[in-house]
Amino acid sequence: MTSTLSLSLLAIVSFFGSALCYGETLVLVDNLATRETHSLFFKALQERGFQLAFKTADDPNLTLIKYGEYLYKHLILFSPSVEEFGGSISVQSLTDFVDNGGNVLVATSSDVGDAIREFAAECGLEFDEAGSYVIDHLNYDVKDEGQHSLVVANPENLINAPAIVGNKQTLNPILFEGTGIISDQNNPLVLDILMASSTAYSYNPSKKITEYPHAVGKNTLLISALQARNNARVLFTGSLSLFSDKFFRSGVQKVGSTNQFEKSGNEALATALSKWVFKEEGVLRVGIVEHHIAGEKEAPAFYTIMDDVVYSIEIEKLQNGVWVPYEADDVQLEFVRIDPFVRTSLKKEGKKFVAKFRIPDVYGVFKFVVDYHRLGLTHLYNSTQVSVRPLQHTQYERFIRSAYPYYFSAFSMMLGVFIFSCVFLYHKDGKDKPE
Ligand SMILES: *[C@@H]1O[C@H](CO)[C@@H](O)[C@H](O)[C@H]1NC(C)=O
Ligand SMILES: *[C@@H]1O[C@H](CO)[C@@H](O)[C@H](O)[C@H]1NC(C)=O
Repeated sequence: MTSTLSLSLLAIVSFFGSALCYGETLVLVDNLATRETHSLFFKALQERGFQLAFKTADDPNLTLIKYGEYLYKHLILFSPSVEEFGGSISVQSLTDFVDNGGNVLVATSSDVGDAIREFAAECGLEFDEAGSYVIDHLNYDVKDEGQHSLVVANPENLINAPAIVGNKQTLNPILFEGTGIISDQNNPLVLDILMASSTAYSYNPSKKITEYPHAVGKNTLLISALQARNNARVLFTGSLSLFSDKFFRSGVQKVGSTNQFEKSGNEALATALSKWVFKEEGVLRVGIVEHHIAGEKEAPAFYTIMDDVVYSIEIEKLQNGVWVPYEADDVQLEFVRIDPFVRTSLKKEGKKFVAKFRIPDVYGVFKFVVDYHRLGLTHLYNSTQVSVRPLQHTQYERFIRSAYPYYFSAFSMMLGVFIFSCVFLYHKDGKDKPE
């Protein structure tokens, strides 16, 4: 009885918790029909606790900020062809939004407007020219109308990050129709989420190919993302239909294959991607951080060289709107004074990650640093500064073996002086005697 009560209480609390935590989301569309054609995707978001505000992208009253505060936590741009946003939204205000931790999901079609193109460029991505489609003459769906642009993407080509794409082994093939993206390979923050197969390229299907296509083979990205240094997430895809009810409900059959799938993998993938981009998945945070000398409880004012130290850190992960202890065996601790002097892995003990080590024979100002950077997870960084001082003069050992020659020399000197004094005082030399 009590357990059902507490369970339902927990459900209510977590429901409101999640509703509060996910917050308002602004959805910008080219025309409000998108709301109907993509209703399954939006409905799933609303069921997960998002409040969606639908606006057309050229609405003159658009604004992200009111009285210096952001009105929205997340932004969905399902407005491919917009050349210029209405109101006070511009590419600059979008990048500011991301710089302030806002998350953005962008889906376009083959006619990408300037606004989206510029925003993508800010994120290290480049869309192909207007009118171009990803074309694959070997991997298209049987329903394709002859241009081979209704591409069947193999889930194998998804990035290896369950936090972003879910379980890709169980995913059905994905339907994609739209333009390709190429990413700046020098940008370490950009993630290639879904690549086209090696036979794909991006070009205008109604034109003869006269020049080298913008993107060929696996360089053609169907879905790409950026996780900024402040952990804000931005996801781009060249296919707005990827999120449409039509593709969600559609079956998939690759041409020349007898393998017929009842339902495409689009819905499952869209759910996983939206969970990642809106920070329901792959979010870590630091809990209590403690450190002390082995055998003690409190953190000391300072450490002394060669002390045995115990460091512990709690790491929590967001799962279904609740923070649960994070499980991993690859978290490392560094003990740093400019360079790391100690680098050790942390072991899970109960809810905490614990490391035990001996401070090296070097004194100075050190930091305990946990810098955990994994694909699909938010960047976790915590540092705690401590000072390490040398031994006090009373803390040295009294007699050490290597000093025995010195002890010997001191005592032999004393003995020598003693003997010399005896000889000097009591030895009677005949010559000095008065006659
Ligand atoms: C914009 O705001 C003004 C004043 O609040 C209002 O009169 C107008 O109808 C709004 N326009 C749109 C397109 O919502
Ligand atoms: C590390 O974590 C502790 C405890 O949560 C917190 O007080 C401290 O500000 C964090 N340090 C950094 C650099 O984030």
